[in-house]
Amino acid sequence: MKKIIITGGAGFIGSHVVRRFVKNHPEYHIINLDKLTYAGNLANLKDIENEPNYQFVKGDIVDAAFIQNLFEQEQPYAVIHLAAESHVDRSIVNPLEFVMTNVIGTVNLLNAARHIWKDKYNEHRFYHVSTDEVYGTLGEDGMFTETTAYDPHSPYSASKASSDHFVRAYHDTYGMDVVISNCSNNYGSFHFPEKLIPLAIHNIKQNKAVPVYGKGENIRDWLWVEDHARAIELIFHEAKTGTTYNIGGHNEWKNIDLITLLCSILDRKLGRTEGESAKLITFVTDRAGHDLRYAIDATKLKNELGWTPSVTFEEGLEKTVDWFLQNEEWLNDVTSGNYQQYYQSQYANR
Ligand code: NAD
Ligand code: DAU
Repeated sequence: MKKIIITGGAGFIGSHVVRRFVKNHPEYHIINLDKLTYAGNLANLKDIENEPNYQFVKGDIVDAAFIQNLFEQEQPYAVIHLAAESHVDRSIVNPLEFVMTNVIGTVNLLNAARHIWKDKYNEHRFYHVSTDEVYGTLGEDGMFTETTAYDPHSPYSASKASSDHFVRAYHDTYGMDVVISNCSNNYGSFHFPEKLIPLAIHNIKQNKAVPVYGKGENIRDWLWVEDHARAIELIFHEAKTGTTYNIGGHNEWKNIDLITLLCSILDRKLGRTEGESAKLITFVTDRAGHDLRYAIDATKLKNELGWTPSVTFEEGLEKTVDWFLQNEEWLNDVTSGNYQQYYQSQYANR
């Protein structure tokens, strides 16, 4: 059976990708390699943990010797690499951690793959899951395409840009079969409540202030996480070697409009009067270097591989809010302990 190592499979997007591969592909043995940082949570994978084609390995991609051993032992057919430090605000506080995991960790995986795949690169694939933030920021017009020049601004996006460059370098230099996709903002179940949508749902639910950075005028292009996972499955199987695809929902929202919509959905679902939750919106000090606007042109993915999003934003957001309301225990678990300290440090004096 072909073994695929999926890194970061206990995180938000990774858990959806792992689930999809385990359920749809009995022909693969899926090894979920994850360090279980604050963002990794095995509760995200409860429903598939006993599947015969699934295995969890706890490990750090920064540990080169460990990674090398694992690859020698398992001889994976392919790697789908999602493990990363993923939160822009944390990268502003501790950039080096982002260099370690996102850059060094990626190079460690590439080296381990090179070591066991050399001379037979055409039989293997290294898929790097990346972000649209590598392209920097847009003004009022235009969209990111696959040929937009890289112009990262945050330590997070700089580290992801660097890892993209290393992945391409291993293709150009050694002939490794690589694919990269750059996706816009995801939302959905198992989203850690440090990111805007789950943080807002959690705070609204608790009648706590909802922090909106600056004037709330920054724009993000939101995609339902299941649609991202479906795109990854498709690109993994269909993309030509060395190619890049942008993935996005054609779904731009100003932060303030998005939060206002969320407030009104929660008013309805929690039996509050319309407008009650919106009173919780609180404008706070802006993020340093805050990119104004992201928007993805996903035409290449649509024309070449036939992918389009499966749900509207309204449908996806309803499903997401319902999931958070029905999974109180998950939400309580991830917002206790260290999360409280994180929240204080980010928001108490903002
Ligand atoms: P996440 O923070 O929810 O999960 C990251 C996972 O990686 C966690 O399970 C964590 O334990 C693991 N991890 C972190 N450091 C590790 C290490 N050193 N070794 C092994 N495992 C480690 O992230 P996410 O939002 O699911 O994002 C997954 C990937 O997709 C990232 O590469 C991110 O850059 C990219 N991406 C995210 C979005 C988004 O909107 N969230 C959009 C586009 C691309
Ligand atoms: O574009 C893809 C990227 O999307 C991914 O690569 C990142 O991993 C992911 O975290 C996300 O980055 P953002 O910085 O866009 O996501 P975040 O949810 O942190 O913020 C979304 C917007 O909301 C952004 O403009 C900042 C703002 N914001 C965020 C938080 C957490 C607020 O106004 N208040 C908040 O409390």
